Amino acid sequence: MTDLSTTAASAPSPEQGAANGSGASGSGRDSLTVTDNRTGETYELAITDGTIRAADLKQISADGVGLATYDPGFVNTASTRSAVTYIDGDAGILEYRGYPIEQLAEHSTFLEVAYLLLNGELPTQPELDSFVHDVTIHTFLHENVRQLMQGFRYDAHPMGMLMSSVSALSTFYPDANQISDPANRQRQITRLIAKMPTLGAWAFRHNQGKPYVYPDNRLSYVENFLAMLFKMSEPTYEADPRLVKALDVLLILHADHEQNCSTNAVRSVGSSQVDPYSAIAAGIGALYGPLHGGANESVLKMLRRIGTVDNIPGFIEGVKGGKEKLMGFGHRVYKNFDPRATIIKKACDDVFEVTGVNPLLKIAQELERIALEDEYFVKRKLYPNVDFYSGLIYEALQFPPEMFTVLFAIGRTPGWLAQWSELVQDKEQKIARPKQIYTGYRTRDFVAMGDR
Ligand code: CMC
Repeated sequence: MTDLSTTAASAPSPEQGAANGSGASGSGRDSLTVTDNRTGETYELAITDGTIRAADLKQISADGVGLATYDPGFVNTASTRSAVTYIDGDAGILEYRGYPIEQLAEHSTFLEVAYLLLNGELPTQPELDSFVHDVTIHTFLHENVRQLMQGFRYDAHPMGMLMSSVSALSTFYPDANQISDPANRQRQITRLIAKMPTLGAWAFRHNQGKPYVYPDNRLSYVENFLAMLFKMSEPTYEADPRLVKALDVLLILHADHEQNCSTNAVRSVGSSQVDPYSAIAAGIGALYGPLHGGANESVLKMLRRIGTVDNIPGFIEGVKGGKEKLMGFGHRVYKNFDPRATIIKKACDDVFEVTGVNPLLKIAQELERIALEDEYFVKRKLYPNVDFYSGLIYEALQFPPEMFTVLFAIGRTPGWLAQWSELVQDKEQKIARPKQIYTGYRTRDFVAMGDR
């Protein structure tokens, strides 16, 4: 291997670095010196904010093809600069615009948090009143959306219905493609935050074969959502304020999580400059998957399948043997604990005080206890994530498992929109278009059907 010190003379000067686009600092600090052992050439790459620019690697070439990085799943690649959400996975820190999630969950409301995520600052009272008013008056959907949703099969998964109907909204608001107009963007953002609970509730009612309930704009965001879900013949649906508070907290906890799979989908699709409904529909699709938002539904189904505490050791052995995953455990970023899981455990107690304890709680607690002491999980730093306990609360609130991810999607909408808004205003962003390492055949002649 070539010794760096013997090749340092080949390193570009600061001027060369700037001229060839490498952006290298040339100071020897805040830079990375790399030697290409294929050629013996040494390069200096600038380090900014703890990253090197992948495009700077292009200058490193042995055969006329610039060097690239290979990073399936983006495990060590920053795709954007963002000022929305900060996470320190080792320390279990989650902050929206600098405010710790614990403080927001305790003192704020979901719509106030949505305002914060979208605008960067907590609102004054008049600003909040105006935002809540705007959201409230946009809760209704065009009647054709209702007809569209009624066209689904009786047993359609509500996430599929949500994704399709959000995507359909782009046809109701064709001007939404004017994404460089800030007033237009704001209008679509308000509409999406306002209409998501109506769409989610209607998907639920559809599954139940019950008539869709129209929004009641006298109610708060969460109360209205609960009314559209559960109202029958009573003139006004009155939800228990403790349950309203618990659901509001759950929505806050899900409101953003920086560059997760669904946000990356929103940004990736949004980078083509499509309208926000289409981009958010892509995010809903990504969230639906069992490794992401769909995990809460899988946790509940897993707990039911385990059935009794006695079956836990056998189940854990199966997980360790690679038969299946312990759903609701593990996280790409959190390696000590998920701060959202801690808050949710507390919310569980509040909800169960009203609804009675969910019998699956005992299984979940025992599963957590055993897993946290087991070498397999300890070594891999696998801890309960946000989805481990949230399903128990949702079930206590009378939601079937299929609805859990819909609740996640409603909560995540302001985050997706804040990230989308940031993307469309970021001059550095380009259409998302990763490279590939091609592993297939090269040029071959077409073979006629009879000769194959
Ligand atoms: N149960 C058993 N083993 C696991 C689990 C689990 N839940 N999660 C990770 N592992 C193992 C994995 O098999 C691997 O083992 P080995 O090193 O022997 O191959 C090791 O731990 C590292 O896992 P990984 O798959 O490389 O980690 P990742 O960062 O790519 O995946 C994850 C993160 C969340 C997809 C994964 O932990 C997982 O599938 N968890 C279960 C699904 C889940 O709960 N998802 C919700 C995430 S939180 C909500 C959200 O933000 O979406």
